[in-house]
This record gives sequence, structure tokens and C-alpha cells, in this order.
Amino acid sequence: MFGLVNIAAKELIIGEFGAEAWETIRHRAYLVDDDFVGMQDYPDDLTYRLLAAASAVLGLPSDDLLKAFGQYWTRFVARRGFGELLDVSGHSLTDFLENLDNMHAQVGFIFEGLKPPSFRVTDAGAGRLTLHYFSDRPNLGAMVAGMLQGLEAHFQLDIQVCQTEEKAKGADHDVFEVTFTPRAEAAN
Ligand code: HEM
Repeated sequence: MFGLVNIAAKELIIGEFGAEAWETIRHRAYLVDDDFVGMQDYPDDLTYRLLAAASAVLGLPSDDLLKAFGQYWTRFVARRGFGELLDVSGHSLTDFLENLDNMHAQVGFIFEGLKPPSFRVTDAGAGRLTLHYFSDRPNLGAMVAGMLQGLEAHFQLDIQVCQTEEKAKGADHDVFEVTFTPRAEAAN
């Protein structure tokens, strides 16, 4: 995956658990050079090794880490020059998710050779939708759940996500039931 993903993982781990934890994790993942270049394509294996090492060192299930990473992602890419793309990709959560493949296609103009996932929205109604996630990469469903949760602040919504089908358990692809309600105005 592109270095941007590894940079986000490194930043998240250092921010939450400290530089020492990151050093232990990267050594355990046999990572010699952690000076990632955002626009360079790295083997997927490297990212999965980091995930496994982080899970072992921090004593946290990899799904919990993927969820935290997913939640972090929107804030991270917004800081990294993609804020405008996020803003123009949909005024509502449903529009935004229906537009995710187009959004990744735009990202692909910058990151040549991007292998993006694909998403489909079905059964969209007031405050609910079903999201279908297709990828050749295994076991990233928890990251998608985290990414959806990470969109709460962007859309001023409370978002609940429940994964109802898992490719890892034999389903054709991952499916998520998503419900959302407007955030209550902060009392002053
Ligand atoms: C402007 C915002 C975004 C940018 C710049 C971005 C960029 C990227 C990049 C660079 C990758 C790595 C792919 C590769 O290296 O081949 C990726 C993967 C991925 N993105 Fe996005 N993304 C954005 C928003 C989102 C959102 C909002 C979601 C879901 C709600 C999402 C879901 C995913 C998933 C699940 C992957 C993992 C790859 C896979 O499943 O095969 N992305 N994205």
C-alpha cells in the first residue's frame, strides 16, 4: 500500500502509545527504514506485518487496531491535503459513500497504481443504509467500520455500524448495516 497508509499508522501509534512502543513494533515487524514516502508504493505484506507486530506488542486485537486506524484516517488525510476532496465528495453520508469509488479514482490520479477498494450502497433510507465493501485484500472489515465511525465529525452525525457479513467467514464480501442520526447541538 502507499506510504501514506504506513505514515498514518506510525503517527497514530506514536501519538497513542509513544515513540518507544513504535520502535519495538517496527523492529518486531523487521522494518529497517521507517522513513516512509507518502507517494511510494510499499508491499502490502509490510503493512500487515506492522499490524501483527502492533497487536502483539500492545496486547490488543488487530481488529481493535484496525478500527482505531480507520477512525484516525479521515482526520489524517484531511491534514495531508485531501480535505477539499472530502468536502466535495458528498453533502450527505449516503451521497459520500455512494461516491467513494469516484473519490478513490480521483486519489488514483495522484497515487499512480493505486489499488483501491470498491463500495456499493443499497437500501438507503432515512437514517440508514447498507454498505457493501469489495477488496482483494483480506481482513480489513474492521478498518472500514472505523472509517465509517471516523466520518461522524465530518457530517455531524452519530453513526452506528454493524458488520452483518464477513468475507473472512465465507461470505461473498463484507456487508455493514449503518444507521445514523444528527448530532444533538452542544448545549451552551
Ligand atoms: C480523501 C480521503 C481518502 C484518501 C486520500 C484515501 C486514500 C487511500 C489510499 C492511498 C489507500 C491505499 C490503497 C493502495 O495503496 O493501493 C486507500 C485504501 C483504502 N481506502 Fe481510502 N482514502 C480516502 C477515504 C476513504 C474512506 C472515507 C473510506 C471508507 C469509508 C476508505 C476506504 C479505504 C479502504 C477500506 C482501503 C484499504 C484498501 C482495500 O480495502 O483494498 N477510504 N485509500
